[in-house]
Amino acid sequence: MTKRSVENLFMSYIKISPAKGLNGVIKIPGDKSISHRAVILGALSCGDTNIHNFLYAQDTMRTVQIFQDMGVEIQGADSGSTNITIYGKGLQGLKPPTNVLYAGNSGTTMRLMLGVLAGQKFKTVITGDESLKKRPMHRVVEPLQLMGTKIYNGKDGNFAPLTVQGGKLKAIKYIMPVASAQVKSAVLLAGLWADGETVITESVKSRDHTERMLKFFGARIHKKGNKIAIKKTDKFVGKKVSVPGDISSAAFFLAAGCFCKNSDLMLLNVGINPTRIGIITVLKKMGADIEIINKHKEGFEPVADIRVKSSNLKGIIIEGGIIPKLIDEIPIIAVAASFAKGKTIIRNAQELKFKESNRIISIITNLRKLGVTVEELNDGMVIYGGEPLIGANLDSYGDHRIAMSMAIAGLSAIGETKINDTECINTSFPEFMDILEEIRQ
Ligand code: S3P
Repeated sequence: MTKRSVENLFMSYIKISPAKGLNGVIKIPGDKSISHRAVILGALSCGDTNIHNFLYAQDTMRTVQIFQDMGVEIQGADSGSTNITIYGKGLQGLKPPTNVLYAGNSGTTMRLMLGVLAGQKFKTVITGDESLKKRPMHRVVEPLQLMGTKIYNGKDGNFAPLTVQGGKLKAIKYIMPVASAQVKSAVLLAGLWADGETVITESVKSRDHTERMLKFFGARIHKKGNKIAIKKTDKFVGKKVSVPGDISSAAFFLAAGCFCKNSDLMLLNVGINPTRIGIITVLKKMGADIEIINKHKEGFEPVADIRVKSSNLKGIIIEGGIIPKLIDEIPIIAVAASFAKGKTIIRNAQELKFKESNRIISIITNLRKLGVTVEELNDGMVIYGGEPLIGANLDSYGDHRIAMSMAIAGLSAIGETKINDTECINTSFPEFMDILEEIRQ
């Protein structure tokens, strides 16, 4: 990728006309969750960490900038490279920043960094954009306070900006009240500095990239059943990390490949971590023609190529333990369900309310504008699919996954679909429109 800025890649709106089909081979950009974590662990290591296929996007660059603000040298990222080097400072080497740390729109940056900041002997303030300032932080603040961190704001500690005074931490035994990889990761990261052994119990499993990567870097972490234990760690050493393609980005083309007629797509090098592949399970259950080929491991994560061809989808029920495995894909699954014959019920997904937008509302409002019959549930929705979608004027609600899902819907709607406020796509997938233009017929 050549030098450019992730701040101004996208137009403020996009217009989509119907596609005759989608064909081609797509290289999916690096996984966002794994890219954040590689920067964090690289910065906390001794020595260099080389990250290959790093996701260059606004959210991951927030994490990069925050470490730069604390004195970590990171080469390549500012010029838009997907191969970057982090000159780690070790677990005791971060410097107090002279500015307020800024997480932008990135919930992962804010929540994981709270875990890192909890381990620092200095005081920091971290904030985000207007959307992030409305997202609940209590779920991370509570366990970190139990470990001994002082975290406060003007109100109740639930919303950014948050002031963090870390330092001496003690290990805790924590039962996760919500299935959240961000909360789990924040506690595990703080556990690196906490005296004793921090133990987390998960009743519903969330994505496990942090555990895998901590182990790969040499932290004293082990898993037993639904428990994860981490011991105070003095140091670990930089590594080479190869980031798989992001299944959450692949998801848009996986779904489109199913419901757009005359489609045949090959998605290369996609992460197929079992805690992330709910979308594949669900689409297959809906009748999708999806083939997983060339399965192998890249470092500590499983990857594969995925081939998808047009098929006739049918409605299904999506609920229970699979929800955390596809939580970020529900907007595009809802679009697929709109093209599927019959009723799709999505429930137990109340976490949708706390994402970059209230996704229950943003999905339903947009689908209804496209002519789909949708019922709202407190923890999901019921979609009556199979009727033609009619192009409309839609809103992203400042939420990248809503913007991209609705653009994909437009490929099979009648007439033109316009999506407003699409700059947010830069937070996770700056190449989205380029790829779409390449594969559409
Ligand atoms: C993420 C965890 C999930 C996911 C988010 C990324 C991560 O959030 O929705 O997009 O990288 O840990 P929760 O932890 O709130 O479930």
